[in-house]
Formats: sequence, C-alpha cells, structure tokens
Amino acid sequence: MSATSPDAATPEALTAPVVIAVDGPAAAGKGTLARRLAAELGLPYLDTGLLYRAVARRVLLAGGLPTDPAAAEAAARNLLAEDLQRGDLRGPDVDQGASQVAAQPPVRAALLDFQRSFAARHGGVMDGRDIGTVVCPDARVKLFVTASPEARARRRWLERQAKGEAIPLEEVAAEMAVRDARDAARDVAPMKPADDAVLLDTTELDAEAAYRSAWTLVQAKLEV
Ligand code: CDP
Repeated sequence: MSATSPDAATPEALTAPVVIAVDGPAAAGKGTLARRLAAELGLPYLDTGLLYRAVARRVLLAGGLPTDPAAAEAAARNLLAEDLQRGDLRGPDVDQGASQVAAQPPVRAALLDFQRSFAARHGGVMDGRDIGTVVCPDARVKLFVTASPEARARRRWLERQAKGEAIPLEEVAAEMAVRDARDAARDVAPMKPADDAVLLDTTELDAEAAYRSAWTLVQAKLEV
C-alpha cells in the first residue's frame, strides 16, 4: 500500500461522519449539552428519546396501553415525522409510556434503522440511552452523562414547576426512579455506559460548567 493512497492514509474511522453519543438517565442534562455540542460542531442533533415518546403518544391516542406489545409495535412501525413535532410529548403519562414501549424489542428494532441512517448521513450528536452501546457503537466520542438521583429529580421538578405544574418533589423523584430502573433493567439495549464511554457527573455542575467539561472531553477525543 502506498503512503499517498487516501485509503491507507485516512482510515475509515477518521473519514466517517463524526458521531457523538450522549447517553445517560433522565434529567442528567444530556439534551442541553448535546444540543450545544451539535451547534458548536455544526452537526445535526437527534433527541432519540423523542422517538419513544412519540410511539407512546400514538398508542395512548389510540386508546391503547404502552405495555401492549401489538399496539406498541404497530405505533413504532407507523411513526410519522409529524408525530415528533407534537407539543404533548412530555409529561408523566408519556414519560412512563415511552419507557414501557422502549423495553420491547420489536419497538426498538423498528426505530433502529432511522437512527442509524440519521447518523450515517451527516454524522450527528445523538442523545439517548443506547447510542454508544447499540445504535452507534463506532461513535467517535461517547459521553455518559449522569447526576445523583436527587439532583436529577430536582432539575425535572424545577422544569415542571416552570411549566406551572404543582407537583411534589417526592412524586417527581419516585416517577423518575421507576423509569430509570425499567430503562436499566430491560433485556434489550439497557441503559448503561459503553465500555469506552467517558463518564460525566453533572451533580455539582451547572449547564455552563457541564458544557465546558464535555467540550474539553470532545476536543481531546476528536484531535486524537
Ligand atoms: O428527557 P428524559 O431524559 O426524561 O427522557 P428521554 O431521553 O426523552 O427518553 C424517554 C424514554 O425513552 C426513556 O426513559 C427510555 O425508556 C427511552 N429511550 C430509550 O430507551 N432509548 C433511547 N435511545 C432514548 C430513550
């Protein structure tokens, strides 16, 4: 092989579109971080949680139960772009419903191609639970963003307060604990850091500090 051959000089991993996986549990700060990284790097951003939320919403709108395998699979297979634009994809029913449909292998299988094609087209910053482990195991950078359960519950509680919802902090914490446990315990694509993921604990960090830490990690990985 000649040293001037582009194939020899530029291994595929370095010429493939840049994919950054940002995984982690609920309200760890992934979305804010991933959106900002995407803007900074000029990469598309995909909130993969929205796919599972939209599937759950479709099932609920049809009067079904997110735990019903036939209803969940049909909703995932028939998901439309406009389902992702809905204004009612956040809230306790969809939070739990998303995690219930997400535990079902046929639902995950139905959504996999879309996520992989998205990443393969122009690269992207992909926010989810299983991006580094299953969807894009070859991602150039893998971050697993976490924070203590108390810090995460408090953040989600503040978000919901800001939307005018009067809900006790303990209730938000309990709902989140149920969802995290289900996401981590499921048989298919459980939420867990990839072996080569870098952990970023944001318990003591505000959004700006979390971003600065992530940016340093991303730069170090992309320059290798
Ligand atoms: O915003 P938040 O972190 O609360 O949740 P989300 O990222 O919108 O994800 C909602 C639910 O979708 C999660 O609880 C997971 O059950 C599921 N999910 C998943 O299984 N795999 C992904 N890549 C993304 C989300």
